[in-house]
Amino acid sequence: MGKKIFSGVQPTGNLHLGNYLGAIKNFVNLDNDNDNECIFCVVDLHAITVKQDPKELRNNIRETVATFLASGINPIKSIIFNQSAVAAHAEGAWILSCVARMGWLNRMTQFKEKAGKDKEKASIGLYSYPVLMAADILLYDATHVPVGDDQKQHLELCRDIAQKFNNDFKLENFLKVPEPLIQKEFSRIMSLKDGTKKMSKSELSDLSRINLTDSKDQIINKIKKAKTDPLPMPQDIKELDERLEAKNLLGIYSSLTNSTLQNSVKSFAGKNFSEFKVRLGDELVNKIEPISNEIKKLLGDKNFLDKILLDGVEKANNIASKKIKRIKEIVGF
Ligand code: TYM
Repeated sequence: MGKKIFSGVQPTGNLHLGNYLGAIKNFVNLDNDNDNECIFCVVDLHAITVKQDPKELRNNIRETVATFLASGINPIKSIIFNQSAVAAHAEGAWILSCVARMGWLNRMTQFKEKAGKDKEKASIGLYSYPVLMAADILLYDATHVPVGDDQKQHLELCRDIAQKFNNDFKLENFLKVPEPLIQKEFSRIMSLKDGTKKMSKSELSDLSRINLTDSKDQIINKIKKAKTDPLPMPQDIKELDERLEAKNLLGIYSSLTNSTLQNSVKSFAGKNFSEFKVRLGDELVNKIEPISNEIKKLLGDKNFLDKILLDGVEKANNIASKKIKRIKEIVGF
């Protein structure tokens, strides 16, 4: 039987190689399988958990749609829509926030990382953001949720919320407990400047990431400047535990070429990083440049992108409005 897929991406600009290799590439594979029903959401409600410029946000919503299309998601087969246009997400998040426990949310490591030292000044939305994410998934009875490794804890929370709701209201399997789909390898792409930090849109230095809108020259330049260590390329996969930058670059190379880390290590063992970087740059340009060109082309036709969203909103609303109606009846409204 096919899977019911749901996943989301925040429209906060700078979609990057981590988003692509960790999530979007997987969306495309799932979308290509005709047995699956896929829903891909531009999570604009999540985006405003940190301050956004309204004009930029509007552009970023379209750019995220353009990125989905440019990467190969078929909008005729799959639903692409923005979260804020389907009221059930905000309503569902409120009801589920009365089911989720403070103790559960207090354990979320992403909040701790994002809020940093100044927790008191973080928005309440940033804190309760995983509950909204649970509503996203549960409204569509999603069976599988493809994400990068950093979303694993949020998916566990989603499962806990679904189970508690079902228990509290003595319903078996009303909210479907979803399975995470996280690739075994290369599901956490690290910064090009620091092998201990995740590649992220919010990192100040643009050299830390490959953006999906980067040009060929930018990609090659960023790989040239990527941090390595003074030793030759590793001889053995075991060395990688101590050589995080080499591990990350070899991981990116393996993911792009669909090879194993072991084979990539073997191909470049003992060589200079500069030689490897030329090959890695080529692979990246082959993959990212066509996507980047297509994003730019699509952004020239805003009406087309808006039409995709409108169609998607209608279809998503059809599903979500029925589920939220049942949820409201169940809680006694
Ligand atoms: P977001 O917008 O931060 O990231 C979108 C997707 O990209 C993945 N990702 C990465 N994967 C590997 N390496 C990286 N460095 C990297 N950075 C990002 C993320 O894991 C994610 O899959 N809360 C979610 C969005 C969301 C969602 C949902 C996802 C909202 N509702 C429902 C699934 C289901 C987020 O902020 O992703």
